[in-house]
Amino acid sequence: MLSDNFGRKFEYLRLSITDVCNFRCDYCLPDGYQCGSSRDFLSMLEIKTLVQAFAELGTKKIRITGGEPSLRKDLPEIIEYCANTQGIERVALTTNGYKLRRDIQQWFDAGLSHLNVSIDSLDPRAFESITGSKQLQSILEGIDKAVELGLKEVKLNAVLLKHYTPTQLDAFYKYVKNRDISIRFIELMETGDNAAYFEQNHLSGAYIQTQLFSRGWTEKSRDTLAGPAKVYEHPDYKGSIGLIMPYSKDFCSTCNRLRVSALGKLHLCLFAEKGISLRQHLISGDVKGTKDALKNAMGIKKLSHELHDRFTGATSHLAMLGG
Ligand code: GTP
Ligand code: 5AD
Ligand code: SF4
Repeated sequence: MLSDNFGRKFEYLRLSITDVCNFRCDYCLPDGYQCGSSRDFLSMLEIKTLVQAFAELGTKKIRITGGEPSLRKDLPEIIEYCANTQGIERVALTTNGYKLRRDIQQWFDAGLSHLNVSIDSLDPRAFESITGSKQLQSILEGIDKAVELGLKEVKLNAVLLKHYTPTQLDAFYKYVKNRDISIRFIELMETGDNAAYFEQNHLSGAYIQTQLFSRGWTEKSRDTLAGPAKVYEHPDYKGSIGLIMPYSKDFCSTCNRLRVSALGKLHLCLFAEKGISLRQHLISGDVKGTKDALKNAMGIKKLSHELHDRFTGATSHLAMLGG
């Protein structure tokens, strides 16, 4: 089992398989999508080595992220490999939903159990203005299809934006009234690339929290493989509302995941800039070497990120945030 000097255990791997995205969310400046892009992202063989090493060290959940992970043609194969690896209990995907309606059946058949989809607004015009995509309706249909197929958990991510979210709240509450779906509002995080946007659009999660309490929502307890969200429930609603507040004081104390970028770097924190390259071990299919590198890295994981005094100068971490 991987654990650090502060007693935190890491059974959850967040694995980015590409930095590329076909959406253009205002708060995120992704690498553009180019057909046949020659970027040197982890190969299927490297991913297999990595997943095997993590599983042998006690990892139980793998979340596949990007950029946009569905732009990789071998995504079903990656899901299948993770799902069939001994010890892996949950295979999760974070996607912008672009290929969801078309491909969710295939992903489900490959073994996908948990799905997060980015939906910053339920209004098509606002959605297009934020993401550059006209696909909202198709994405929402894909989400309903995922629920019908019986995935264990389907969640929506909405980044909290001062000029968009407040007018959308009633639509979001209505959305979860009769659907077994969680909507998580994510505080906008400042990266090196989005400083001006952050200044104009950041909205504190406390705004939603106050509203939830006054409307009778109460906080749910958290399971050990859960992510960073605080989740609230209400007896009149089938779904739930979550809040991800990376700027809150206790955010890092429940950290339970490690991250690997699409270029094979281990990041001990979302905001850890440098990363430790695992590539030399992955390229040669060396599971033992990968495991040793992971074990050695645990000793240098810090207690907390440095955002609590607001932004300290991290560069954009698209590969880690990615949709
Ligand atoms: P699950 O609980 O497994 O659904 O994980 P998750 O909520 O972390 O997954 P998702 O990919 O949907 O990410 C939601 C948001 O949380 C994104 O904005 C991520 O960048 C952010 N996030 C995930 N892990 C961390 C973290 O350790 N630190 C910070 N600051 N943000 C994180
Ligand atoms: N701040 C907060 N959330 C972000 N995401 C991407 N960039 C940021 C940011 N700067 C979100 C996406 C997606 C999730 C994985 O991360 O909207 O839902
Ligand atoms: Fe793409 Fe996600 Fe960035 Fe939006 S937030 S541009 S969907 S990677």
